[in-house]
Amino acid sequence: MIHGHITAWILALILFVVALFLLKGGKEKGAKVVKMILRVLYIAILATGVGLLFMVYKIDVWYVLKAVVGLWIIGLFEMILSRVANKRRTSVFWIQFVVAWVLVLYLGGRLPMSFLHP
Ligand code: HEM
Repeated sequence: MIHGHITAWILALILFVVALFLLKGGKEKGAKVVKMILRVLYIAILATGVGLLFMVYKIDVWYVLKAVVGLWIIGLFEMILSRVANKRRTSVFWIQFVVAWVLVLYLGGRLPMSFLHP
């Protein structure tokens, strides 16, 4: 389950970057296709994330925070892509993006199922 979760969000991150470059290069059609695949990956991230939560004996605040920050990142993927497509400012969202990634890697890494867990 954790492998599926990690694979899903790494793929999503890669496709997010690909979609960004396609948009910047004016390739709207290509970006549309990549965005559609990206949305399937959101479902995979969510399904594996929820699956991991079901494996937890006692869900504490760290799990809740981890899940919320995960959802926040998915929201930011969508916000940034749509604002880039509409040529609107994205700086506020990029700041949130960095903060959310630091948090998710920290929280994900400190929870017990993680590879990084001491
Ligand atoms: C793009 C969004 C997300 C990212 C980048 C992300 C990232 C991570 C990372 C880095 C880990 C630790 C893996 C490891 O080091 O082995 C993890 C574990 C986990 N994630 Fe996510 N996640 C995301 C979305 C979600 C969502 C939406 C949920 C819940 C609905 C969720 C629930 C969990 C749970 C329960 C764990 C296991 C924690 C443990 O016990 O070790 N994640 N995630």
